[in-house]
Amino acid sequence: MKSLLFQLILVPFVILNFVNNVNAGITSRFVREEWPSVDIPLDHEVFAVPKGDNAPQQVHITQGNYDGNAVIISWVTFDEPGSSKVQYGKSDKNYEFSAEGKMTNYTFYKYNSGYIHHVLVDGLEYDTKYYYKIGDGDSAREFWFQTPPMIGPDVPYKFGIIGDLGQTYNSLSTLEHYMESGAQSVLFVGDLSYADRYKYNDVGIRWDSWGRFVEKSTAYQPWIWSAGNHEIEDMPYMNEVTPFKSYLHRYPTPYLASKSSSPMWYAIRRASAHIIVLSSYSPFVKYTPQCKWLEEELNRVDRKKTPWLIVLVHVPIYNSNEAHFMEGESMRAVFEEWFIHHKVDVIFSGHVHAYERSYRISNIRYNVSSGERFPVPDESAPVYITVGDGGNQEGLAGKFRDPQPDYSAFREASYGHSTLEIMNRTHAHYHWNRNDDGKKVAIDSFVLNNQYWSSNVRERKLKRHYLNGMRMIASS
Ligand SMILES: *[C@@H]1O[C@H](CO)[C@@H](O)[C@H](O)[C@H]1NC(C)=O
Ligand SMILES: *[C@@H]1O[C@H](CO)[C@@H](O)[C@H](O)[C@H]1NC(C)=O
Ligand SMILES: *[C@@H]1O[C@H](CO)[C@@H](O)[C@H](O)[C@H]1NC(C)=O
Ligand SMILES: [Fe+2]
Repeated sequence: MKSLLFQLILVPFVILNFVNNVNAGITSRFVREEWPSVDIPLDHEVFAVPKGDNAPQQVHITQGNYDGNAVIISWVTFDEPGSSKVQYGKSDKNYEFSAEGKMTNYTFYKYNSGYIHHVLVDGLEYDTKYYYKIGDGDSAREFWFQTPPMIGPDVPYKFGIIGDLGQTYNSLSTLEHYMESGAQSVLFVGDLSYADRYKYNDVGIRWDSWGRFVEKSTAYQPWIWSAGNHEIEDMPYMNEVTPFKSYLHRYPTPYLASKSSSPMWYAIRRASAHIIVLSSYSPFVKYTPQCKWLEEELNRVDRKKTPWLIVLVHVPIYNSNEAHFMEGESMRAVFEEWFIHHKVDVIFSGHVHAYERSYRISNIRYNVSSGERFPVPDESAPVYITVGDGGNQEGLAGKFRDPQPDYSAFREASYGHSTLEIMNRTHAHYHWNRNDDGKKVAIDSFVLNNQYWSSNVRERKLKRHYLNGMRMIASS
């Protein structure tokens, strides 16, 4: 009898405790000896130039419009411009349609880029496999992609999340593990090639090698790009001071479709998700274009059509690693209140070369004249996840702050990638997959409940649980 009473008291307590996220966070003790954090040599097969005269290389696709029935197909040719034409169709080798795009090129110090082609292919059918062909004559190359289903509240979809990838053996491991995951599109949280670790003409050369490195995935499924600090490339010693010059020439985004004025920040809707991409390195304080746009875009979100609201931004807002500690504070001060108000589900970041997940917490009561200095549990808040663990040449950020702050739920300094598999409007299955030498191992996994669709149901259930518990205690 006593133990039953005990259980009755304990059950609601435990449940509320869990919801309030006051359980202590975990710092994984796992330490994996790193493979050397060096870039793979340029003559390695992962960077092989495709055979043939002027053959298209560095093929990559990204979503081309707001709702996903368009793609932008990009590639580079080196010997001559060649045509900016894509032939495509719904069966292999039977290309009934074609689309024409644009060519661009740029110089970086004394490096001359190849001819960079970008072609918008739109008016596609949803949930359909398309085959496409680019390049001319014998050097033409063929690929395929699958369009997403039309947006809708219960459309299942599996995203991968990769950040700070670079082009080392660890990067290769991450990329290969990602490709085994069965995910359909990558949410890339910034810092692509780490070409800016090189000097002079090698910067351009390492952008090209990276484009070839990731092609086995990027040619077949869209990677949704956001920019990191390694894309800035402010290099006055060689008179290169135009921010994001290489990145913007090479990786277009469908920013106009979301009424953005810059390719650096934009939004797309895909399946049941509304994805907002922000730029940590573009102005974002009040009255700036990015800030105004975000306010408008958040108001365009329709959770009845796209229940899942996901934000990508390179610099983490909540991070307890010594690396880049508090760099996200300036953006937190401006945007956190909106993230809470609009019930953002999850915010993915990179930048810190480790993995970390937060509890649902917020610090919006803090202001410069109030005494509320600490983040508090907040069920309306997003989960913040740092996936800067792609494996670039800078190595791991192995030093976490001690003790682990209350807001940090799980952290580990290893390489890997994440997947977010949306099941329906209320449930998504999340995994962080560590690179364990040759193997991929799911380490941090949980069910993400939708902030818009689950919370009311959950609150009602909880209240009932709690009241029942109280009633039973009172009557015993
Ligand atoms: C781009 O390519 C054209 C054609 O080869 C060339 O004339 C021009 O100089 C190039 N521009 C830059 C900026 O490299
Ligand atoms: C700042 O905090 C103080 C004290 O809690 C509160 O009175 C004031 O309204 C807050 N100001 C803003 C702008 O949030
Ligand atoms: C949503 O998916 C979860 C997990 O697969 C399942 O348990 C739940 O019943 C589903 N809900 C609806 C309304 O289909
Ligand atoms: Fe970074």
